[in-house]
Amino acid sequence: MEKILVTSALIYANGPLHIGHVAGAYLPADIFVRFHRLIRSNIIFVSGTDEHGAPVSIKAEKEGMTPRELVNFYHDQIEQSFDGLNIQFDNFSGTARKYHHEISQKFFLSLLDKGYVVQKSSQQFYCEHDKRYLADRYVEGVCPFCQADGARGDQCDSCGKLINSIELIEPKCKICGNTPVIKETNHWYLELPKFENMLKEWLNTKSYWKDNVLNFIMGWLNEGLRERAITRDIDWGIPVPLPEAEGKVLYVWFDAPIGYISSTVEWAEKIGFPDRWKDYWFDPDCKLIHFIGKDNIPFHALIWPSVLMEQNEPYILPHDIPANEYLNIAGSKVSTSRNYAIWVDEYLKYFDGELLRYVLAANAPESKDADFTWQDFQARINNELANILGNLANRVFTFTKKSFDGKISRPETLSETSKIAFDEAQVLIDEIESCYKNYRVRKTTSLLMDIARIGNRYFDERAPWKAVKTDKDHAVETLYICLELLRKITIVMTPILPSKMKQLREMMNLNEKFSWQNIAQETLEYQIGVVAPLFQKITDEQIEEQLKLLESDQDKEVILEHKPEIEYDDFMKLEMRIVKILKAEKVKKSKKLLKLQVKIGSETREIVSGISQYYAPEDLIGKKVLMLINLKPRNIMGISSQGMILAAADDNNNLTLLTPMADIDDGSEVS
Ligand code: 2FM
Ligand code: ZN
Repeated sequence: MEKILVTSALIYANGPLHIGHVAGAYLPADIFVRFHRLIRSNIIFVSGTDEHGAPVSIKAEKEGMTPRELVNFYHDQIEQSFDGLNIQFDNFSGTARKYHHEISQKFFLSLLDKGYVVQKSSQQFYCEHDKRYLADRYVEGVCPFCQADGARGDQCDSCGKLINSIELIEPKCKICGNTPVIKETNHWYLELPKFENMLKEWLNTKSYWKDNVLNFIMGWLNEGLRERAITRDIDWGIPVPLPEAEGKVLYVWFDAPIGYISSTVEWAEKIGFPDRWKDYWFDPDCKLIHFIGKDNIPFHALIWPSVLMEQNEPYILPHDIPANEYLNIAGSKVSTSRNYAIWVDEYLKYFDGELLRYVLAANAPESKDADFTWQDFQARINNELANILGNLANRVFTFTKKSFDGKISRPETLSETSKIAFDEAQVLIDEIESCYKNYRVRKTTSLLMDIARIGNRYFDERAPWKAVKTDKDHAVETLYICLELLRKITIVMTPILPSKMKQLREMMNLNEKFSWQNIAQETLEYQIGVVAPLFQKITDEQIEEQLKLLESDQDKEVILEHKPEIEYDDFMKLEMRIVKILKAEKVKKSKKLLKLQVKIGSETREIVSGISQYYAPEDLIGKKVLMLINLKPRNIMGISSQGMILAAADDNNNLTLLTPMADIDDGSEVS
């Protein structure tokens, strides 16, 4: 029997659960675990909330709550949302709990002891206005790698790279908007370069990992690993367990994955076998599988294994990290700050959680980003669940009740057509089994529908409504085969639709206990019980309502973050003029940058601008745009950029250059 420990990324307890989280790290894991329970693997599933660090303390400050109040609130709310979606963990913990603190401190000390963590004086951003060091998300600026705006002090969402915060270009304090200064402080660093060879050797055994994960890691390893500070100057977190580290806490990304262990420890306590967690974490034959979203890859595939490698106890390393890509909504990225998201607690006020499970499984962002739209939600429920599966169940049950009092027994012999229908279903079931094992829920979902399609086609071809008048046995056989197909579906589809399949089994009076092995065991006699439609169709009105909600929630919550006031004289320091673009070309080796030559009266200048994803060079030539011309020249990818073209950007990834409303000479001053 396989022994497997499954984890889902610990969600920050700083906001509700949205469907992007579900599609990335939770539903695929829940489906995988439910499948393994059916094939009787020894499997446990743990997760919890990530309760430390800047993401939590910033939100708590904004909401006027203490961090603990905030995490308690969201922990409970998130747990309820999981319940509503039938996502069931063996344990759902939180990192602000006692065990977790103890284990994390022990992990830190073990690395320190072995020389993999060293103390160094370092430079950090400090906000003179707020009188504090700006750890991680407390500072934002332009990404030093890809030049995207809005990169945070720890990671850039645009290119996914981890950032050493003082390398941010144009840094701004997240609290007051001021530019921070650089100040000396002391921190403890994880010496990642020392792990490089061990990591490479270990990763060499992982050729079966998903391409998106391997490509990401190889990119990193090729660039060379860098040491990472694993302590922070903030007051919410796990205290660094050293007398000389007063006031410092462990970096949230150091302690978060340790949460997988502490959640397992908590589970073992809960079931009354406090040592049981070791059966998983210390057993080299146990497969540790981390379900995560793609932004978490470097932490799970490089930093976390390094941390595990040098403990005093024999922890296993990840067996697999099936990371998923992002789920966008109607073509735009989810933006929690702009409230552009579909929140699970809101969703559950309108629809059954199982429907969302189906749609997110059918459209899982497995190998590339996927797009959720309400129209697709409606189409999948109506055209697939209701019209294919629901229809098969409905017509078979209705007919069985009407013509045979709900009772059908297995015919002694089966015709060729019936055998073919069974064989075809078995081929699909074998493929489904392999897809479940390989995290391919998207494919699984479509194969499952194919079994129901076989049933509908067979039913149509054999037309039992006609046969019943002349050849009752023929009709009985048809219904029996369809009931068998439905029974098989109730097993193979359980990982995706657990409660709907339970309902279906109840209607068919099938026993509660079943496993994957039962698929082939025919039920000899069926007695259909009380039936009800499995799926209600989603109406256009319901969809319109959701579209309006998405739109209006988004508008309501647009909270602009303003910069501090400035004096008129400050404004007058800016020299902005209309310029005419003479030449435009792509900057080599850059996806984002264009090199422009602009004319300002009789002067020409060269500038570099991050607009390549929005404009083709040839469309810009001859255009007049607004430019800040007295910005100190900056060297960008080896080119001295002498000014800045002004553009407006929104959170939907739209960007437009600013052009004058009427033709006006280039060089004209803007004030
Ligand atoms: O990115 C995030 O939302 C993190 N809270 C994920 C942590 S995963 C794990 F390491 F705990
Ligand atoms: Zn970047």
